[in-house]
Amino acid sequence: MIKRESIDKIIDLAHIEEVVGDYVTLKRRGANMIGLCPFHNEKTPSFIVSPAKGIFKCFGCGESGNSIGFVMKHENLSFVESIRLLAQKYNFELEETQDTEEEKQKRDERESLFIINKFAQEHFSHNLWETDEGKSVALSYFKERGFTKNTIEQFQLGWAKESFDDLNTAAKGQQYSQELLQQNGLISVKNDRTFDFFRARVMFPIHNISGKVVAFGGRTLSSDKKVPKYINTPETPIYSKSRVLYGMYQAKKAIRQQDNCFLVEGYTDVISLFQAGVENVVASSGTSLTMDQVKLVKRFTPNITLLFDGDAAGLKAALRGVNIILEQDLNVKIVPLPTDEDPDSFVKKVGLSGFEEFVQKEAKDFILFKTDFLLQDGKNDPVKRAEATRSVIESIALIPDNIKRAFYIRGCSAQLGIEEQLLHSEVNKEIRKNLKKKGKISRQDKQLLDQQEADALKKQPQTLELEYFRHHFAEKEILRILFEYGHLTFQDNISVSDYIQYELEDVTFKDDTYNVLYKMCFDQNKAFSMKDILANEDEALVETVINVIVFKDELSTGWWDKHEIRVERFNEEHFAPEVLQKVSRFKLAKLYEMILDREEQLLKENSAEEEDQLLQELRHLRALDIEYRKELNIDSHIRVELKREVR
Ligand code: CTP
Ligand code: MN
Repeated sequence: MIKRESIDKIIDLAHIEEVVGDYVTLKRRGANMIGLCPFHNEKTPSFIVSPAKGIFKCFGCGESGNSIGFVMKHENLSFVESIRLLAQKYNFELEETQDTEEEKQKRDERESLFIINKFAQEHFSHNLWETDEGKSVALSYFKERGFTKNTIEQFQLGWAKESFDDLNTAAKGQQYSQELLQQNGLISVKNDRTFDFFRARVMFPIHNISGKVVAFGGRTLSSDKKVPKYINTPETPIYSKSRVLYGMYQAKKAIRQQDNCFLVEGYTDVISLFQAGVENVVASSGTSLTMDQVKLVKRFTPNITLLFDGDAAGLKAALRGVNIILEQDLNVKIVPLPTDEDPDSFVKKVGLSGFEEFVQKEAKDFILFKTDFLLQDGKNDPVKRAEATRSVIESIALIPDNIKRAFYIRGCSAQLGIEEQLLHSEVNKEIRKNLKKKGKISRQDKQLLDQQEADALKKQPQTLELEYFRHHFAEKEILRILFEYGHLTFQDNISVSDYIQYELEDVTFKDDTYNVLYKMCFDQNKAFSMKDILANEDEALVETVINVIVFKDELSTGWWDKHEIRVERFNEEHFAPEVLQKVSRFKLAKLYEMILDREEQLLKENSAEEEDQLLQELRHLRALDIEYRKELNIDSHIRVELKREVR
């Protein structure tokens, strides 16, 4: 393991602007630097680097991190691999603690599993090209399907012989361990006898995004209905099928360039489209789409186009995966193919230009399409209509972007034949339900907050959402002042972090990640340091920290005005009033939560005694509330409006 001191040293050496500067042309903009984001396609720069804070953040796609995080994301490396790469760049010799036997073994094991898969892939390819069996059975099959030599090589297709021990024998000859072959799912053991897992199958290696073989899919050539058409590598230490998309390694460059990703079902669909010239295509390999897979796509583009069979089963399959896509704020289109065609057969029939024309003409926005589709078989059935409406509401509510959502509400209300206003309020209800369930809030919800904060200034009627966001905002602000000023000395010679700890004690936040971060700030034995927190191995945690520290700037400069967004330097002179104010605001938010809680309790069945108790508490809390609001100069009429909403 690399010593902690070495990691700290690397972070000091690897200035963010230099590390990013190797890949992105940066221009100075005030205290910061700005450039075109390397993680998504854009024409106007929204990628900001703050040398003072040692971080980057893209306001277009949301990627953020420090210099290690940048290398991890850009080069698709692990935390440790990234540190090694940076050490190389800066000619710095890392000090290592002695690996424990266990650590060493684990690292070696993963490495060995990759090596074994590479061996197996090469063996299957050898079978295909060099053996009589492979040439006559498998190669001719691929040729018949129209795959060219080049394509077969590019996707590293192969042949597993009709034999119980072909692979195993070859592996033994090379001294590969049986145990590792078994771990990789390449051989199975039954009653002390070993069998090759893939037998008499054409082989489709599955690559991770850096091109290493992590698993295989094998297709039988037999038409016997009892033989499963495909068998796939089971979960192994290096393969988790929910995190991989077939073809991503080959497709990623084209996906970035085209700013769109086609999603299909099968291995052969990917290969056929790719060969025809549609290179931005991946497959979920027959399973329904997972969150991790969607996130994988999102690293390259915000646009997904589903290519599914035009029949009812194909469409139902598409409907299933799509909520996950919407939730990740991707734009989803669907292209229903003609009946009895899959992408493979279709592109073969009509060719590249025919395919492109068809997509151009037939691609439909997914939600509008779904609404249509659900209404089709129940236009005059009120129950079916209600079901369809419910399902559409659920989908719309998942879209994090407000403007997009408003657009869909308008479009779908017309389609469903219900009033826009009604649909709007139903969607809002659903959103509130979701937020409660998750107990947290996303970047885009905050956008709503911005808008509503602005409305609040204009003294417009408040909503429950506003107060919810305000609350979240208060939590975020506590963390931010902790991160930014925590190490500074405050009144009476105590540090800001000590002050906050004293004032808030062991408070719990609604947001789980915030709780983790808050604890981290105080678990350290040494003085508080944000740098330590940024050097954490957990990428998601670091991203949260960065979102917290640039939050203020986003708010003050306006979310949509990308070019003007600046990450300002810490204001180390005038932080004291800010700290006091933020702590009071946070307490007010907590108070509000307690009042709501009592009010809700009051609506339930209570004994006279309980009710007395609740009323007494409420009186006390409300008095405190008024006091705090006065102190903070916040209007109290807001509360009246709010209560009406709650009931
Ligand atoms: N699949 C699977 N196991 C099966 C059937 C299918 O894992 N028994 C997965 C495979 O990843 C396959 C995808 O689901 O690629 C789609 O299935 P299908 O359309 O039947 O296969 P194709 O890829 O179209 O194969 P082919 O064109 O050779 O029929
Ligand atoms: Mn097919």
